[in-house]
Parts: sequence; C-alpha cells; structure tokens
Amino acid sequence: MDIKLILTEPQIGGQTIISGWIRTKRDSKDFSFLEINDGSCLKNLQVIAARALPNYDTQVSRLTTGCSVRVTGQVTSSPAKGQTVELQAETLEVIGWAPADSYPLQKKRHSFEFLREISHLRPRTNSLGAVMRIRSHLSFAVHQYFQDNNFFLVHTPIITTSDCEGAGEMFAVTTTPKKGSPDQTPPRDFFGNPAGLTVSGQLQAEAYALALGKVYTFGPTFRAENSNTSRHLAEFWMIEPEMAFCDLDGDIALATDFLKYLIKSTLKNCPDDLELFDRFIAPGLITRLEGVLDRSFTRISYTEAVALLAKSKQNFEYPVSWGTDLQSEHEKFLTDVIMKSPVVVTDYPSAIKPFYMRVNNDKKTVAAMDILFPTIGEIIGGSQREEREDILLKRMLATGIDPDQYQWYIDLRRYGTVPHAGFGLGFERMVQYITGMTNIRDVIPFPRTPGHADL
Ligand code: 4AD
Ligand code: MG
Repeated sequence: MDIKLILTEPQIGGQTIISGWIRTKRDSKDFSFLEINDGSCLKNLQVIAARALPNYDTQVSRLTTGCSVRVTGQVTSSPAKGQTVELQAETLEVIGWAPADSYPLQKKRHSFEFLREISHLRPRTNSLGAVMRIRSHLSFAVHQYFQDNNFFLVHTPIITTSDCEGAGEMFAVTTTPKKGSPDQTPPRDFFGNPAGLTVSGQLQAEAYALALGKVYTFGPTFRAENSNTSRHLAEFWMIEPEMAFCDLDGDIALATDFLKYLIKSTLKNCPDDLELFDRFIAPGLITRLEGVLDRSFTRISYTEAVALLAKSKQNFEYPVSWGTDLQSEHEKFLTDVIMKSPVVVTDYPSAIKPFYMRVNNDKKTVAAMDILFPTIGEIIGGSQREEREDILLKRMLATGIDPDQYQWYIDLRRYGTVPHAGFGLGFERMVQYITGMTNIRDVIPFPRTPGHADL
C-alpha cells in the first residue's frame, strides 16, 4: 500500500514513496523540479529529479502537468521558500501520461465557468479540491454533531408519494417503455400512485421523531424549480433534524448551535484549505467565520422585519408588504446592511408557508423560522409542526392538500400527538458560506440545474 506522505508532513531522512499528479515542472541544468499533489491536501510536495536518473531523457524530461507518477526517494529539508521538505527522487515511474496539447488543465488559473464544463477534471484544481475536502469534512461533522447529541439517523425515502412543501416542484418517477419494444405507450405508474423524487424528508422524519424522540436525515433532495440562480440546484443535499417535545425556541437553539459547531469544526480541521479561500476567493473569510462563533444570531419576527425594510426607504425591485414572501434582495438587506449578522426571522404569515407549520395564537402567522446568512440568504428553513389534528385538517384543506392521501400523517396527531419541531439545512449553501464560493454549482461534485445534468 502506498503511504500518503503529503497529508502527514514527511519525515526528514526517511525513505518515501509518493504517488500523485504533476502540477508543474521546472527544469534547470542538472535537475527537474516537479510539484506533485496526491489530492490528500492542498500542499504539493517538491520532487527533485536529477538528470542522472536512468529514465530522465526518455521519460522525466517529457513530463507535463497532469501526468501521474510514482516516486521513491529520500526526504530532505528544503532550502526553498514556502516548504520545509522536498523529495530527492531515486526512482521515478510514469504511471499515466497527459498530453499537453489536449489536457485542459494547464498551469494558469481557469475560470469557474470553464471548470464547470469539465466537471470530471476540475477536482484536480486547488480550489475545487479544497472545496471537496471541506465538503467531506462537513458531512462527517454533521453526523458527529447529531450522534454526539443523541439523535438517530433515519434514511427517509428518496422516492415518495408525498409532496412535503406542497409547491408542486417534484420530478416524476416511473418507468419508460422498453427500448425497441413495439408498444411505446407510456407505462402506468410503477408504484400504483404518482410518485416523485423527494423534496424533503421531513414528513417521514416526523413519524420517526414521534417514535425515537430525536432523529435526523441527511440525503439528496430534488426540486424541479426553474431557478437559474447561484443558490439553487435541482439536486442538493439537505440535513433535517426533527425533535419530539420541542417548540420553536428549542428548534432555533438547536439550529444555532449546529451551525456554529459546523463552522468551528471546519476552522479547526481544515485550516490550509480555508486559508486558500481567504487569500484567493473571499478575503476576510476566516475572520468572518470566527465572528459568527462569538455572536448570538439576531432574532426578529417577520412582522418586525417587514417594518424595518419598509422604514429603510431602500428602493427594492419587489416592494415589501406584510403578507408577501421576503425576496432575496430583502433577505440580503436585512443581513448585510441592517443587522450585519446572521438573522433568525420567525412567525411568517400562514398564507405563504406550507400546511404543516403550527398556527400561532394570532391565527394569522405560523411558528416558522428561517435563518438568513450574510451573502447567502436563507440557509435554514424550519418550524414547529402543527400537532393538533383539527387545525392540521383545516390547514390542509385551505392549502389544497388532500387529507385522504395523508392519513398516515394525520394519524401521528391522532395517536399520542406531541409538540415537535425541526428544520432543514441546505448542505451546499453551508459549504458555500464556509468556503466563500459564490456559485452553488461549484460546491457539489456534479451540479444538476435546469438544462444541465452532465455525466
Ligand atoms: O426551506 P425549505 O424548503 O424547507 C424544507 O424543505 C423543510 N421541509 C425543512 C424542514 O423543516 N425539515 O428548504 C430547507 C433548506 C433551505 O433553507 C435551503 O438552504 C435549502 O434547503 N434549499 C436549497 N438548496 C439548494 N438548492 C435548492 N433548490 C434549495 N431549496 C432549498
Ligand atoms: Mg424555505
């Protein structure tokens, strides 16, 4: 087994094997200097390949960016600036060539738009590699947080017959006629009922919270909304905790603690990758992230938010008025200009929120909360759930949900109902916030958006 020696700082004097890809090569009179990266971290290892190597003229001299190699040699301390060690090659084996006239990743910096066209190669760049290592760390941190806090992981279905958000943004799932078969009439619903890809695991998570107490889901989520923005994907990942015996305050407390944990954990575990973003993508990023840890999030009601926005006299494209949803320009103004911090907006008008949110005593608003982050806007959407059967039924009818199709969900109120609450965190939006990447398509390996599902 090859030992990854970039990740752990190589030991001086040790015999080392390193396998990786050439990032750059520079030749001098007696040597070639190869910057090699094995993907385990941002740093490259400099390999010194002497002309005396037996395959220098036939192979080493022909190496270009992107070739894969395996090198053995001695690790020595390096006189060069910016690195402590280098590897003096004793053998250098070329594993795969990458012809320079066709390999799309050259030494220069490429635009993120260009990299999106080669999504299979872009993880070999510094920035995308760093995003994906942070993404991996964050996934692990999500599980760590909930496991440490005694939540059970529930795998909610990906194919479902419930439209949780009631917004009709589902992709249909059924079979297609067999290729070449003479009968090309569209088959009947495979599942007997119209089914689709889930827009949220919440409803099923509620069933499990009302059995296991505290649960969470973390899975792929699909929305067929035609939003071509830097914050929307047709396929994204969502984390949805759900807690029995919990109200909106408890829900907000969990969400805030969870967000801070994820930031803290990344600051602690991914310092080199974060520094790359701080230097080249989002100057001041690390200070901003640290700032979030020290602060409590400002909490205001929707009604207060609308009043503040109206008072601001700002010329918005969409006017603000009580009863309409906050647009991203309003959210941005609240976080970036008025509050200059993350904001928790609560108690939205019931008419603009889904059927499952708990109706407040004023009968006009629901116990909802959205957490808005500077630069990102809505990162979390959550609520206390309506646990009263009669009121839930009324809300279903008012919002055009057929109660017959949701008998199982109503049962949860009929048998041993309890107050409960939860939220959904958009995982990619969190990765965006933590890395400072401006486009959500650059924080998921293979983005799916309207008109695009490559590979
Ligand atoms: O606010 P949403 O729609 O809430 C729900 O789905 C609830 N059922 C969650 C719950 O209470 N269990 O979505 C939650 C979060 C949003 O705040 C946003 O971060 C993210 O999911 N999100 C998207 N991320 C990327 N692309 C999209 N198209 C997204 N739609 C929502
Ligand atoms: Mg929402």
